[in-house]
Amino acid sequence: MGQNTPENPVRGACLCGAIRYEIELPTLGTVHCHCTMCRRWNGAGYTTWFAVPKDHLRIVAGNDHLQRYQSSDHAGRLFCSACGSSLFGDSSRTPDVMYIVRGPVQGEIDTAPAGHQCIESLVPWIEIGDELPRRQGAGVLTTPQDATPMSDPQTQLAPSSSEQALRAAGLYTHINDLLDAQGRIQGFIHYHLGFQHATEALADKLEGLGVDSSWRLLDLCCGWGVPTRYVAGRFGCRITGIDITQRSIDFARKVTEGTDVEPLVSFRQGSALELPVEAGAFDLVWSQDGFCHVPDRPRLLAECFRVLRPGGHLVFTDWLRGEFITPEELRVFCEAWSFPGVETLASYPSLLATAGFEIVSQEEVGCEYAVAGDSESVGRGLPSFIQRVGAGDADDVAKFVKAHGRKAHLERLEREKMDIHFAQRKMALGRFVCVKPA
Ligand SMILES: C[S@@+](CC[C@H](N)C(=O)[O-])C[C@H]1O[C@@H](n2cnc3c(N)ncnc32)[C@H](O)[C@@H]1O
Repeated sequence: MGQNTPENPVRGACLCGAIRYEIELPTLGTVHCHCTMCRRWNGAGYTTWFAVPKDHLRIVAGNDHLQRYQSSDHAGRLFCSACGSSLFGDSSRTPDVMYIVRGPVQGEIDTAPAGHQCIESLVPWIEIGDELPRRQGAGVLTTPQDATPMSDPQTQLAPSSSEQALRAAGLYTHINDLLDAQGRIQGFIHYHLGFQHATEALADKLEGLGVDSSWRLLDLCCGWGVPTRYVAGRFGCRITGIDITQRSIDFARKVTEGTDVEPLVSFRQGSALELPVEAGAFDLVWSQDGFCHVPDRPRLLAECFRVLRPGGHLVFTDWLRGEFITPEELRVFCEAWSFPGVETLASYPSLLATAGFEIVSQEEVGCEYAVAGDSESVGRGLPSFIQRVGAGDADDVAKFVKAHGRKAHLERLEREKMDIHFAQRKMALGRFVCVKPA
């Protein structure tokens, strides 16, 4: 890679040379984007973008030639008004970031393309000749037209990823606060799709792996630690719960106090993107319904891999994009649930393989949980789940709005569409068992 420094920036120019610019490294990451808008705007089969902090781009000539086309409510594309060269993109959702079209930039930069995004829009006349990860929708790095909640920037750099992770998890501080205000913390049971049934079904996958009291487990994105306590109780193993939301950790500790498993269980605040633990510290990483909130999934999986011993397992469930959801429905759904994006059963294998994992089993579940019914007897029943996480009693809307505001109520209504989405296979739940090769 080039030895570029702020004193020795990389340079770019449009076709006619009217616009010249300099970019200070480091970049935030590079990606090939195959979406239709990128193709149309750039007149090419796909567009390679990289991202930089906004103040790393300096226009040194031709600023008056720089035109901006507002390509969506929040995103714009900048081009040369004299020759039409496609140069930059921006988004009000990521005000501190500029997206730079790689083509007009001379020489080397510090990041190579990390993957292909929006692969569902790949044109038949382009044959991809590399082994880079491919994913549906934007994900490795956003491009300006796709800077929707399902495709917020998922860059390769720690600070921006961590900030995004905190932002995405903000929903849980909000939900926790609402539940706390209603005095419903202690009574709250499960914080994931499928309630107890889903936890037991995932724990069944641990049978036969040899989990015993000598094992150290990590429950990643542990929330209030319901699965954490269950796994400790069932297997007698030590288990650490990590969650990015301090409120979740506080509640997890509070509801664990005085329980039988208290000596086996501990909780600490931390981000899945920068786990505050040593390499190889765990025999097994467990997670239920948390990965969908974590931007930069390649990095999340790399962290899981890092903290596992050789031969250790990663066992998790995650919300997936279903077969029948439209892009707009997905965008709204992801916004309601604070998802930076969701994977599919098809996209996870390459992500897991890139991280170094071998898949032991993967299955789609979720539809089975999308049944209205007696949640207490079968441990299922989304309406009950929704009422709990929706943080309000459906029959008391006025009271809820008075207490928490109309915005919170509208957000809650959006989240309530979850059961319909799962029932119609617009969303799915994936259950995965993977191993770090010994
Ligand atoms: C749906 S809840 C699941 C909680 C728990 N696994 C359970 O099943 O009860 C998702 C949790 O993921 C946590 N989370 C979101 N992003 C995270 C991140 N980047 N690192 C760690 N935890 C995160 C949230 O704070 C939230 O508590």
